[in-house]
Amino acid sequence: MKMELIKAYAEEIALNIDGNLDLNELKQLIEKPKYEEQGDLAFPCFLLAKILKKSPNEIAKDLSKKITNPLFGKVVAEGPYLNCFLNRKIVGKEMIKSILKAGENYGSLEIGNGKNVVIDFSSPNIAKPFSMGHLRSTVIGNSLSNIVEKCGYIPIRINHLGDWGTQFGKLIVAYKRWGNEKSVKQNTIKELLNLYVKFHEEAEHNPSLENDARLWFKKLEDGDEEAYKLWKWFRDESLKEFSKIYELLDVFFDSYQGEAFYNDKMKETIDTLNGIGLLSHSEGAEVVDLKEFDLPPCLIKKSDGATLYATRDLTAAIYRQKQYQFEKALYIVGHEQSLHFKQVFLVLEKMGYDWAKGLVHVPFGFILKDGKKMSTRKGKVVLLEEVIKEAIDLAQKNIEIKNPNLENKKGIAKIVGVGAIIFHDLKNERQNNVEFSLKEMLTFEGATGPYVQYTHARACSILRKGNDKANTSNLMGLDDPHSWTVIKSLMEFPNVVEKSFKQLEPSQIAKYLINLSQDFNKYYSHVKILIPDGQQQCRLALVKSVTLVLKEGLRLLGLKAPDKM
Ligand code: ARG
Repeated sequence: MKMELIKAYAEEIALNIDGNLDLNELKQLIEKPKYEEQGDLAFPCFLLAKILKKSPNEIAKDLSKKITNPLFGKVVAEGPYLNCFLNRKIVGKEMIKSILKAGENYGSLEIGNGKNVVIDFSSPNIAKPFSMGHLRSTVIGNSLSNIVEKCGYIPIRINHLGDWGTQFGKLIVAYKRWGNEKSVKQNTIKELLNLYVKFHEEAEHNPSLENDARLWFKKLEDGDEEAYKLWKWFRDESLKEFSKIYELLDVFFDSYQGEAFYNDKMKETIDTLNGIGLLSHSEGAEVVDLKEFDLPPCLIKKSDGATLYATRDLTAAIYRQKQYQFEKALYIVGHEQSLHFKQVFLVLEKMGYDWAKGLVHVPFGFILKDGKKMSTRKGKVVLLEEVIKEAIDLAQKNIEIKNPNLENKKGIAKIVGVGAIIFHDLKNERQNNVEFSLKEMLTFEGATGPYVQYTHARACSILRKGNDKANTSNLMGLDDPHSWTVIKSLMEFPNVVEKSFKQLEPSQIAKYLINLSQDFNKYYSHVKILIPDGQQQCRLALVKSVTLVLKEGLRLLGLKAPDKM
């Protein structure tokens, strides 16, 4: 709609100017006036001034008299700018009609043409707790998957499980020394974490443990039966626990092919690297030199033959390109791994893979508690499942106070509690650190998920009271300032979707939803929606449009929007 208006404005200008003008060029020039009082669209006349050899002010003045299309209610010259005020009734009516017609498809774009985008996200490490960093990756990756889909791509959601690596050597050593089957079965992640922490404590005064761990990992890589059985058990039990979190967050994956999946595929990668002469020896290991880029070498194989994280990522990228012919592959991983991804992408380019240009590391900041990073190593960890359950409990308490007669309180509390956590993360630009505060996440006021969900539920309740009479058959349009603010906000949605895709930034959508909610709540408090004055249908149609956009926006972030709360 906004695009159409801009196009129409450019056409109108071209129509009233003698000479051959490039419509696209004119369109590009149209902007938003600096202040709202100055109108809805502004056209700077400098380019025309050059072409027509007249002053821009004169041109603006001239055009302001010539444009008579009723779509542009008022056209005024403001110095060198030609500003127009859109006809609110016409635009509002068309806007609402097109939203109601499109329904949940409003804002969908056709940028992707059905091409595949691989999104590598969440990817927790087996036998370790699901960390706050993995939570961020999960919610950002899930939202980006929805956003790329909204833009016409097919998202391929991959959980690149950290199910291989030297930590399994440590774990096996620790388990054999201090562990027992029963407690691992009862409380897998907690117990495995205890073992992992104990390993590090003991290793501080018993360095031989590190060596044992290396040996056990080597055994594992060589297919030793005992090592493999333990590994497989740790993996299965851990996945069971992760699944609970994914279920709570309502996140799914197309593939759980983690690091171990590439064990039998790495030889080919190493052979290829060797074949084209990219491998060199450095301190006993085989590496790809990256001096030309001022980067440390990318480690491919250790002196004992063990492969590395980077080897697995190289192999995974090659495999995924074969499997999915992706146009882009996004890696949603904290910025502490920036160097790793730079190295991996460069090695793939050096290998001559054209598609490596489509690989993107999408980094994000830490979650902090009292200003400090939350880490797993020393057991200084908040177990995520507990955090989510606490959020749900708190949401339920809120509901008991606010709306004790609500049906399905448990179900709604889950939607609100989980939504609060997700929204709190996504409202921040992803590169920023996020301070963790359950209390702040769960208030119904301010920039929170519950606030947006509540606004949606409130709008739904108005529709119920109006018997959902929102139909578009004889809309007359609305022109009061509060409706107009809401309509303008609704008009922005497709642009916001596009921006969030281009910047890979769900926060664009989260911020937008806050603004739309605020605009709507202002509208709600100033305008009597349900009085039967002949305009009621129109207002209900506007309210309905708001519910559609709020719900769809929340969906893109990974939140549900209950009709009542
Ligand atoms: N498991 C890794 C970690 O927790 C993240 C994996 C990210 N994905 C990848 N393809 N490297 O640090």
